[in-house]
Amino acid sequence: MMIYEFSINHSKIDMDPRKNPYAPGAGTPPPELAGRDELIESASITLDRIRNGLAARSLILYGLRGVGKTVLLNRIKLDAEVAGVYCVPLEAPEERSLPAILLPALRSSLMRVNRTQATKEGIKRILGSLAAFAKAFKVKYDDIEFSVDLEPIEGIADSGDLENDLGELLGLLGRHAQQNKTVLSLFIDELQYVAEDQLAALITALHRCNQQQLPVTMFAAGLPQLLGQLGKAKSYAERLFEFKPIGPLEEVYSRAAITVPAEKYGVEYQEEAIDEIVAATEGYPYFLQEWGQHSWRIADESPITLADAQAATQAAIAQLDESFFRVRFDRLTPSEKRYMRAMAELGDGPHRSGDVAELLDRKVTSLAPTRSSLIKKGMAYSPAHGDIAFTVPLFDGFMKRVMLMEK
Ligand SMILES: Nc1ncnc2c1ncn2[C@@H]1O[C@H](COP(=O)(O)OP(=O)(O)OP(=O)(O)O)[C@@H](O)[C@H]1O
Ligand SMILES: [Mg+2]
Repeated sequence: MMIYEFSINHSKIDMDPRKNPYAPGAGTPPPELAGRDELIESASITLDRIRNGLAARSLILYGLRGVGKTVLLNRIKLDAEVAGVYCVPLEAPEERSLPAILLPALRSSLMRVNRTQATKEGIKRILGSLAAFAKAFKVKYDDIEFSVDLEPIEGIADSGDLENDLGELLGLLGRHAQQNKTVLSLFIDELQYVAEDQLAALITALHRCNQQQLPVTMFAAGLPQLLGQLGKAKSYAERLFEFKPIGPLEEVYSRAAITVPAEKYGVEYQEEAIDEIVAATEGYPYFLQEWGQHSWRIADESPITLADAQAATQAAIAQLDESFFRVRFDRLTPSEKRYMRAMAELGDGPHRSGDVAELLDRKVTSLAPTRSSLIKKGMAYSPAHGDIAFTVPLFDGFMKRVMLMEK
């Protein structure tokens, strides 16, 4: 009999680049999803309660760029799928209408529903109503490109009033889910890009389903400006959703995000190296992945040392300046750049819009269009009336490195 021996030699562990476990990216699942267990559990409880006809508020996750909203939303969706929930995932791009993105998402989710003889007819009817809905809104929202090989079923969800029709459409889907003892849940990422009137219609439609005790809900994620945008539909929204701020990880979780993936390969970090990474990244998940990846690359052997981590800080910042920060900077007009540079001059924020204007020798009113286009682009948000802050963590440092202060 052959005996295989596995031994880990701590004095010399090869930092194989093929095994580098870190996963910086947009929506890229991390090797260790640190510090989000409570939220995941709370989402699962919510869905079970809704399935059983009990009152429950689902979650709207909001926070800055790169804090892990998308991966958390996807994780909640995966768990929901396993539990048999009808999941309708969609991402709201800038400048697209809600019906245009919702229709194909609803269709493909319907296609995935298990088609027993009993459900087949129901699904056909819903598809027919989707077609009627699309027809009713094609003129108003000219970005709708939707068709099914079915005659539109007229009379439901095609009055041309978005609030009403969305309510009826979700109602149809909800009844179908109810008959199948499950829940229908939308999962919408980047919800802040849905125009305010359409967002209000969606919330009202969900509220109607809720009043009819239909198992229909929505989990969503977006930038902090989402809170203000939901203001219009506020009284409904507060009854339907819990707004959960997603932020940087607490220190224990930041450490876990760095060390746990390495431990699986027998790679360790010196304590001071972890301290350096936690301090430099301020616990922001995306940055933790970047720093982890660079540290692994730079280190010759385990344990990863303070010097390795410091070199990783330099390499990571240089790379972010060329990519993560740079692509966002390149989307700004010259006056938006000047505005952001003045914000950076004041520190990491939030700042009073008045202070930014003063620094630029301008009136607050004359800068208002620049300020609001920055918010619309998702580059800044207003945490409180008259305040302004960056949506990208550590962007103040980048602005200072890349641009001189000018008036
Ligand atoms: N809890 C976590 N622990 C460790 N790493 C994480 C965690 N959450 C997210 N990450 C990592 O952070 C990065 C950003 O995650 P994600 O794309 O979900 O952020 P986001 O908040 O959706 O950002 P954006 O606003 O730009 O869309 C990814 O590389 C992901 O692997
Ligand atoms: Mg995201």
